Amino acid sequence: MHNRKIVKVLTLDDFDLKSKTVFLRVDMNCPIDPETMEISGTKRIEETAETLNSLKDAKVVVASHQGRVGNKDYTGMDKHAKVLEKFMNRKIKYVEDVIGEAAQNAIKNLKDGDILLLDNLRLCAEENYEFRPENAAKTIMVSRLSKLFDLCVLDSFPSAHRSHPSIVGFPQVLPACAGRIVEKEVRNLDEIMTVAKAPHVIVLGGSKIPDRIEAIKLLIQNGRADHVLLTGLIGNVFMRAQARIKSPLGIKMEDEVVAKAHSLIGEYPDVFATPVDIAIDKDGERVEMDVREMGKGDKIYDIGPKTVEYYSKIISGAGTVFISGPAGFFEKENFSYGTNELLNLVANSMATTIVSGGHLTSALKQLGLADKINHNSTAGGALVLYLTGKKLPMIKALEDAAIKFRSK
Ligand code: 3PG
Repeated sequence: MHNRKIVKVLTLDDFDLKSKTVFLRVDMNCPIDPETMEISGTKRIEETAETLNSLKDAKVVVASHQGRVGNKDYTGMDKHAKVLEKFMNRKIKYVEDVIGEAAQNAIKNLKDGDILLLDNLRLCAEENYEFRPENAAKTIMVSRLSKLFDLCVLDSFPSAHRSHPSIVGFPQVLPACAGRIVEKEVRNLDEIMTVAKAPHVIVLGGSKIPDRIEAIKLLIQNGRADHVLLTGLIGNVFMRAQARIKSPLGIKMEDEVVAKAHSLIGEYPDVFATPVDIAIDKDGERVEMDVREMGKGDKIYDIGPKTVEYYSKIISGAGTVFISGPAGFFEKENFSYGTNELLNLVANSMATTIVSGGHLTSALKQLGLADKINHNSTAGGALVLYLTGKKLPMIKALEDAAIKFRSK
């Protein structure tokens, strides 16, 4: 079942880009190693290179967010500029500013072929809030910067579900089109979803809990999730709702999300599967145990082999499998078992397969399994929501821009 109404959005091929000043919204929000503060997965930066290659005759201003204000991964974009330089094999200009004089001057001084990266968009307070598009157009960011651009290119598919000024504001006042990543994602996903068969199995890990809970409900309601196999922090929330984890998890909005998980389990009792066994860290060692044997203060870092076996039976009978979010602390070798095993199962299943999120696509590449997957996407939460059939703010902005452009 796929009832999305497809409006053709404009792409870079619809514009003469020579000498134009282009605002390119990308998503270079990367995992950051909390110890070294270095970028630990560069896939999203690598992907940006393809769009930049299509813009080589223009003056391009690249803009992205990194992390969330208050979180450890909320950093400047200087590191990203260096990684992008490596992938592009050329000089990338960088300015430690977003909407101030330094940024504006740097934009005005660009020559054809130049690429300038702005600092973290979320340094600008407005970019941390959701706006209706008409109000986003009135923000300081959009009113100040839009005067300097001829075109807005939206290519941050992983943040397509955010109605932030840089995503929905610029297209209100500038011609706008999709970049190569968004173009490819939308085309591939729409093709895949027209042929996707039941049973639909969703393997869900990761940590952005409120987003995940909302998406799970929509996926089930829209016939996109016959089985939801949970791991990671979202799995812990459901195990807490089942009263299988006795101590509080210590996460934001815990009571609220556990209550929502509880009501989802009540409403759809046959849909959810949660881990049987898990692994914890004991003085640097991996220790596996049944969930019921967990002690107070034990932190779950991975799923165990019984869970992998349980989930493998469901995955092997799937018509479509969508996997998003790691099963645990997979960056540590001791705890990469669950994530790697699940990816292996998905890659070797007969189902139509989609792997979502920067963490999993990097792990998949390392395992040499990327070619066995029908669609790999660095998008996480945005992709989950896209699959529910919900119209994402970025896609709506692009469709509106295309309608406006064609009616001229
Ligand atoms: C993501 O990684 O999901 C996107 O970059 C969006 O980030 P956000 O959830 O902090 O808005």
